[in-house]
Amino acid sequence: MSRRISERRPTLSPLNRRQFLSGAAAVVGAAGIRYPIWALPGPSSAGNLLLGVDYYPDQTPESLWDEDSRMMAEFGFTNVRIAEFAWGLMEPAEGKFDFAWLHRAVETLHKYNISIILGTPSAAPPPWLMVKYPDVVEVNEKGEPLHPGGRRFTCPTNQVYRRLSLIIASAMAREFAETPGVIGWQIDNELTLGSSPRCYCNFCQAGFQTWLRSRYGSLDNLNKSWGTVFWSQTYTDFSQIPVPLPSGGDPNPGLALDYDRYQSYANVSFQDEQLVMLRKTCPRHFVTTNNVGLPLDTIDLRSLYEKLDFVAFDNYPGFFEMLLHQESNSPISPDTIPANIALGHDFARSLKGGKPFMIMEEQSGKAGQRSFSPQPEKGQVRLWTHQAVAHGAMGVNYFRWDTATFGAEEYWHGILNHDRSRSPGYNEIKQAVKELKGLGPEVLNSSYAADAALVFDYDCSWAVKIQPGNFALSYMAQVTSWYGAMSASHTGIDVITPGADLAAYKIVFAPVVYVLSEAQAARIRSFVQGGGMFVTNFRLGVKTETSQMVRTPLPGLLRDVMGVTVADYVPIYSAKQGVKFSPTLAGADGQCGLWADILQPSGAEVLGSYTNGEHAGEAAVTMNSFGKGKAIYIGGDLDAASLSRVLRALAASAGVKRPFDVPAGVELTVRKSGDKQWIFLLNHTSVAQTVGLTTAFTDLLTKEAQSGTIELSGYGVKVLQASV
Ligand code: GAL
Repeated sequence: MSRRISERRPTLSPLNRRQFLSGAAAVVGAAGIRYPIWALPGPSSAGNLLLGVDYYPDQTPESLWDEDSRMMAEFGFTNVRIAEFAWGLMEPAEGKFDFAWLHRAVETLHKYNISIILGTPSAAPPPWLMVKYPDVVEVNEKGEPLHPGGRRFTCPTNQVYRRLSLIIASAMAREFAETPGVIGWQIDNELTLGSSPRCYCNFCQAGFQTWLRSRYGSLDNLNKSWGTVFWSQTYTDFSQIPVPLPSGGDPNPGLALDYDRYQSYANVSFQDEQLVMLRKTCPRHFVTTNNVGLPLDTIDLRSLYEKLDFVAFDNYPGFFEMLLHQESNSPISPDTIPANIALGHDFARSLKGGKPFMIMEEQSGKAGQRSFSPQPEKGQVRLWTHQAVAHGAMGVNYFRWDTATFGAEEYWHGILNHDRSRSPGYNEIKQAVKELKGLGPEVLNSSYAADAALVFDYDCSWAVKIQPGNFALSYMAQVTSWYGAMSASHTGIDVITPGADLAAYKIVFAPVVYVLSEAQAARIRSFVQGGGMFVTNFRLGVKTETSQMVRTPLPGLLRDVMGVTVADYVPIYSAKQGVKFSPTLAGADGQCGLWADILQPSGAEVLGSYTNGEHAGEAAVTMNSFGKGKAIYIGGDLDAASLSRVLRALAASAGVKRPFDVPAGVELTVRKSGDKQWIFLLNHTSVAQTVGLTTAFTDLLTKEAQSGTIELSGYGVKVLQASV
């Protein structure tokens, strides 16, 4: 049988990629399926590059649109994002739409070959809506309603707000579905911004109750899962269930954790209503949404982006540095900003399993609202652009074209100054865009190479926030410091879900796995059994998924894998706990900041012991051989230097390598496509650095051959391709 089939197989003449793509387009077209315009092969798609700028024709005199579009085209931009805050102009009164101005703006841009990403405007409702429907406002965690006048002040559950958001988005979609130049959509704007992803209004309470009904099925199940008998909270009707607003004592931890899950779900489903409509009305356009650039734990972004075409993030390194100064007077270490920004990029890339992402807003100048960050130093904006690409970005839009002369963001500087002169970053951004075009779609769409993974789990973050144990303990801070400790090793890190397949990695880092499901424990067990190295720390496996304490000795479900029992767990407030390392992790003694789990090995080797107080001599760090792999438990909250040394030593012993060494302050990442590989070198310091290459390369930005010891100028970048 199989022989006959193979005999009948027609002989295919070899096709080149272009013929194949247009052939495929014809077949798909004949079948009634249409490609998104932006994915079509051919010159009209400008090689599918998204190198653009955020533009506000709604805030710019129409007499300047032509000049702006011409200048953008000369600049080399392929696209703009527009209209995400223009609800009031598009629907000046309920049900009365005016898209004429937007059509004119789109036509003008398109005339200069600039493609358009349209934003749906639900982040900022117009005043008529707020007067007519005042109940749509968000209620904050103190129970106080927000007021109109800013943005992001509405409730994600409110059916009226959902309906009105969908009406304006649908009207836009119908209007622009076939308009030449329009290529895609951004839904809303930064759903994760500020306090907006948490609302505690009556509509959210009712939504929460309905969500709980489907999650738990019965009140009996819910009451048992939360342990509501405590403080006489047994519910006899779903309508009795409150939201976690201030009460005489803390809320039930199970209820509080479910409320975070519900709010995340409500925001995702708010977005998905617009998405379903856009898929139907504009099948040829891509759809995404943008988010605040650093991993925040408010909305589960993996769910948010699940059905979108690609991830889009906003990246403001200089603004972020200013925020850190605002929060604390202590000096910021030079690695902090590059590492945090890199984490944002690695997180963005990992949200859709490694698929290239887009920077929807990239800082182009001084940035801030009331206060603002200084002008980035010469070379930094270009460096930040390449850093995003080095971590897997396929497109970059700069924020914003011109600088507003009115409104809350007069200080958020763009590519043109208030007087429309060129900003200090103008030429540099132009150069970066040219360089990215020169790299081309193959590099921009290549995959990022990572042998190591860092687990990021929303449940753990939420549950630790609800009951940190030590008030200063923060899951996000732990994840960030573990990432920072590892990033200096330049080995490539994916930021994965607890449900991810671990088999692709040599080493998996998972700090503060406070909530541990049976399924996740099983995945970790088989990863280690199969030869992987699993590295975790204190508070492992303390809670079930309904936020009850486990009833077995800690670390609960992973006791056999880790080869230890937690004899005691100790929040640390004043007297620090010292740690002495065994020869395997040889190095200076360490200190524990916030926490110490006291470990009792049952088969694990001791790699570090506590040095003072009643636990002196007891195990602080252990390594267990389990199956073909190793499981490492770091019981103490190690100081940054010790953590970095320990994690990097473990990664090296797991066989994780970088192509060659780089000096401090220089970042190295690798992107790959088939048998091709590109090494990005990024100098985050203002002074020149030297790097010793182990083989010969070509720098794709200058086309120069590179070998031996090379110099990287202050804030310099190189994209090295191995010479074949
Ligand atoms: C982003 C936001 C933009 C603009 C920009 C500068 O967070 O998406 O709308 O506000 O920051 O503030």
